[in-house]
Amino acid sequence: MFTYQQAFDLAASSPDTFWKQQAEQLDWFTFPSTILSKDEHGIERWFADGELNTAHLALDYHVAQGRGDQTALIYDSPVTGQKARYSYGVLRDQVAKAAGMLAQLGVQKGDRVVIYMPMIPQAAIAMLACARLGAIHSVVFGGFASHELAVRIEDAEPKVLLTASCGVEVNKVIPYKPLVDKAVMDSRWKPEHVVVFQRRECPADLPHERDKDWSALMQQAEPHPCVPVKATDPLYILYTSGTTGKPKGVVRDNGGHAVAMHYSMKTVYNVEPNDVFWAASDVGWVVGHSYIVYAPLIYGCTTILYEGKPVKTPDPGAFWRVCDEYGVKVLFSAPTAFRAIKKEDPNGEQLEHYLMDKLTIIFMAGERLDPPTLEWVQRHTGRPVVDHWWQTETGWAIAGNPLGLERFAVKPGSATKPIPGYKVQVLNELGEAQPAGEQGYIAIQRPLPPGCLPTVWRNHDRFESGYLGQFPGFYVSGDGGYVDEDGYLFVMGRMDDVINVAGHRLSTGEMEEIVGSHEAVAECAVIGVHDELKGQLPLGLVVLKDGYASDNGNIEQALLQLVRDRVGAVACFKQAIIVDRLPKTRSGKILRRVIRQIADGEQYVVPSTIDDPGSLDELARVLE
Ligand code: COA
Ligand code: AMP
Repeated sequence: MFTYQQAFDLAASSPDTFWKQQAEQLDWFTFPSTILSKDEHGIERWFADGELNTAHLALDYHVAQGRGDQTALIYDSPVTGQKARYSYGVLRDQVAKAAGMLAQLGVQKGDRVVIYMPMIPQAAIAMLACARLGAIHSVVFGGFASHELAVRIEDAEPKVLLTASCGVEVNKVIPYKPLVDKAVMDSRWKPEHVVVFQRRECPADLPHERDKDWSALMQQAEPHPCVPVKATDPLYILYTSGTTGKPKGVVRDNGGHAVAMHYSMKTVYNVEPNDVFWAASDVGWVVGHSYIVYAPLIYGCTTILYEGKPVKTPDPGAFWRVCDEYGVKVLFSAPTAFRAIKKEDPNGEQLEHYLMDKLTIIFMAGERLDPPTLEWVQRHTGRPVVDHWWQTETGWAIAGNPLGLERFAVKPGSATKPIPGYKVQVLNELGEAQPAGEQGYIAIQRPLPPGCLPTVWRNHDRFESGYLGQFPGFYVSGDGGYVDEDGYLFVMGRMDDVINVAGHRLSTGEMEEIVGSHEAVAECAVIGVHDELKGQLPLGLVVLKDGYASDNGNIEQALLQLVRDRVGAVACFKQAIIVDRLPKTRSGKILRRVIRQIADGEQYVVPSTIDDPGSLDELARVLE
């Protein structure tokens, strides 16, 4: 068994040896003879000539090992009152049938399938069914509006779209079918089939020829075997916000991903097969892909699919109830979820109702874990809290407390140390390594470990220019921070126009494009300002064209509605302020960083390049 340092050093000095050992833990159809190689773009690829199937690893393998009766997935939906358990055997059978259903609709290896579903078991079944066929899924978060769905349909060009008739929020039912119909209408690419899982909360009409009923198709479907794929074949595309309006299709391969998922379950989360692992997230986000669906199943754990919130479904004891009821060993969620609980139950009184005797540890990621939240959760639950840092692009933790190897003392505000496989460096503008304590760009020296993205879907240039171009030999994370003298990494926030609202990654650039498209708007800036509950919230500052004036806030309201309609309610764009001018540099660049500092009440330095210093004073008065 390695110590942390031994594992880290071996992964850094001899990645082939290190990752071959990890790959040997999996049941490949053909074990790779090549561990690390380069593709036609010169990008490092893992296990290029290996063959496997991710659904086989997640399901069939365990059934073959005699674990068919073990619970693979627990579904808990407090609003609808539904609960269900799927054993590995039953889940394998359902997935095999769903794969057969897709095959009957003409889906083959390499075809894309868009999945726009709420947190129901059929979402996980759909993902695994695609994996079984070698088809590439692209899950779209259910909170996104039809425009976002249309953009993703157009880019991924799916043969089939899988959806459900509705999603269920705290106190409302959200019909999905009208959103899907509008997205298909707006998109230049039309899926051949739209398969709808009917929920009793709000069944949908299926008037189009392309519309199909999930249950009817499943009844007729024949189980489909696992199709062998190359390790480098894509498993999925997951779109994430970048700095422009067009989301980036992060591509995940099959082989590197499976190895990374398996490795992370022990190294990062320190679980064993059979343990109950709960990532309280959504399958629409990377956390849901990696730690609701793939990693726990590949590792042989029981995973929980929870269709509820941390509060109001029905109370702030919801997380503790689930941990208690199902014997959760590891809980993982975003800090914002715990801030929501803390707000409604500041003294942690709900915890008195639940023993949670299996719960050993709580992991957090998705946004910076503020020390007061860390302290509150530790004090009230009596469990250690571990912060870990990662991104859609990497698919698993870049830095964390590698409990399966060694437990380091927690430093509040730090995600602890780089996980073996990631050579993290903090660089200055010139690409020079920063000394301990100095902030800079957090970058990862290539090769990236298995599991990380090898490209952006059908836009390799964007991958090169957005991530690899700035500092040769490095992947740039987009986050800024520093490493202290003990080697602890402190991630301080994004260096670009990406913001994090309630753990959801959103692009202010996209919101600016939408606000700017309104006929009354001359120019605008959308920035992320600090929010006690959600971490950040978008704030729009808008300059109107001559001849336009807001009448009782009608223009502001229209702009808020526009963003809600286009991005979705999840954008939480609830504040737009009309100003006379925006502070800019002499070359015309809007000073977004300074605007954010003013809005957050932070100290700021007036940049020497400012065009009109008076604009800052004026803004400070407006934002007071
Ligand atoms: N489908 C449809 N609508 C959705 C949705 C979904 N899947 N998810 C969110 N929304 C809607 C909400 O209903 C809300 O609509 P409203 O403006 O009409 O009220 C809006 O989007 C904003 O949602 P949210 O930011 O989630 O706010 P909230 O007040 O409903 O809940 C929290 C706040 C903190 C409880 C919630 O955001 C949360 O649990 N966050 C954890 C996030 C997380 O797990 N992130 C994944 C990374 S680990
Ligand atoms: P996503 O791709 O949606 O997972 O969002 C990734 C981004 O969330 C990162 O680039 C960070 O900005 C932020 N993030 C995730 N985890 C952490 C963390 N533990 N600490 C600080 N920021 C984090």
